[in-house]
Amino acid sequence: MELKLAFSFALLFCLSRASSASRYFTSIYSFGDSYVDAGNFVIMASSTVPVWYDKPPYGMTFFGHSTGRMSDGRVIVDFIAEEFGLPFLPPSQANSSTLSQGLNFAVGGATAIDTGFFERNHIVSFKILNTSLDVQLGWFEQLKPSICNTTKDDAKGDKNCWGKSLFVVGEFGVNDYDFLWTAGKSKQEVESFVPRVVRKITVAVERLINQGAVYVIVAGNTPTGCAPALLTLLASPNRTDYDGIGCLRALNHVSRQHNALLRAALEGLRAKYPHAKIIFADFYSPIIQLTQEPDRFGFAAGGVLKACCGTGGAYNWNASASCGMPGVAACRDPSASVSWDGIHYTEAVHRYVAEGWLHGPYADPPILAAIHH
Ligand SMILES: *[C@@H]1O[C@H](CO)[C@@H](O)[C@H](O)[C@H]1NC(C)=O
Ligand SMILES: *[C@@H]1O[C@H](CO)[C@@H](O)[C@H](O)[C@H]1NC(C)=O
Ligand SMILES: *[C@@H]1O[C@H](CO)[C@@H](O)[C@H](O)[C@H]1NC(C)=O
Ligand SMILES: *[C@@H]1O[C@H](CO)[C@@H](O)[C@H](O)[C@H]1NC(C)=O
Ligand SMILES: *[C@@H]1O[C@H](CO)[C@@H](O)[C@H](O)[C@H]1NC(C)=O
Repeated sequence: MELKLAFSFALLFCLSRASSASRYFTSIYSFGDSYVDAGNFVIMASSTVPVWYDKPPYGMTFFGHSTGRMSDGRVIVDFIAEEFGLPFLPPSQANSSTLSQGLNFAVGGATAIDTGFFERNHIVSFKILNTSLDVQLGWFEQLKPSICNTTKDDAKGDKNCWGKSLFVVGEFGVNDYDFLWTAGKSKQEVESFVPRVVRKITVAVERLINQGAVYVIVAGNTPTGCAPALLTLLASPNRTDYDGIGCLRALNHVSRQHNALLRAALEGLRAKYPHAKIIFADFYSPIIQLTQEPDRFGFAAGGVLKACCGTGGAYNWNASASCGMPGVAACRDPSASVSWDGIHYTEAVHRYVAEGWLHGPYADPPILAAIHH
């Protein structure tokens, strides 16, 4: 009897929590790169270069067809939208007529630093789409009047129409550093870019807050040293370059440095804008956790550093035969893999990360805690 009562109280509590969370936000606007992109890269790039992200088996797990998401299914912002009873955010470049419940400005390959920098300094030998953080913010600002008109007077507080919008910024930085690593820059050189990248991100967050944003999630960087593509491209004969899991130490070190500096910078923004709810979303720890203890979380041990969809080599990744290209197949059970295509994660990982951002422990504060205070 007592047990039964306790059980129904627990259930009631869960239900009331769920209903207060759903519909809390009226819209979600996201910025970022391929971890968030829901189709923009495919729309923008496919007229200029061959693109594989719009081919099967992308999308096989959830959508049943490719959507331009760089995964087998949903990405993190999709799970966040689901939690709040909102539709999946349409990619901004699709010129969707429904903007009022959110838009996804993220584009695969996007950098924090302006793309011109990488081209001028010959860090990349190809043309990068001009989709850096500032450019994405510019797109948002251009569309703002057709979504909501806010006067300067109500730019602060819950009255303005952005007060019930959730802004998701990032991750940004992974592409900046990856371009530098794959151009052969040393750890010291790559490290020297961290303050500049973090500054770009904090200035962007500030720009959003000054336009009325109240809830801003800022995602940190992933452990790029565990990505099959980088493990292949930057393979080292020196065992000391690898950590105990088999990831490249220097890359993960720079990710952690970026995250530490970003967290500190966000602390400064919280002090400057006490009305804003700035959430640091940890994208590093959940991936390391899954990579370190795969069987605890339902992932297959032994395959954590191998791409699910790919071909050959120690990490099942080859740039000239990568996921989406003819004849390249996915593994039997993507939900047991961490890496989907050597760079991007499986839907199962996105779900795990999203849960950790919504409920903790991978966000400071967890999103649901931020809306209940
Ligand atoms: C969206 O609009 C832009 C600017 O007008 C245009 O360049 C682009 O081709 C459009 N995209 C689609 C998918 O129609
Ligand atoms: C990218 O676009 C922005 C805004 O449209 C522009 O100011 C900038 O010069 C462009 N950068 C490059 C490298 O084309
Ligand atoms: C905001 O104002 C502009 C200019 O007056 C107008 O064109 C636009 O339709 C308005 N947007 C909304 C959502 O009311
Ligand atoms: C391996 O790397 C370590 C640390 O950077 C260095 O001290 C050592 O000389 C390297 N060994 C070889 C064989 O290059
Ligand atoms: C990568 O794929 C290409 C094209 O199928 C193939 O020619 C090459 O040998 C592969 N490289 C490795 C290291 O397996």
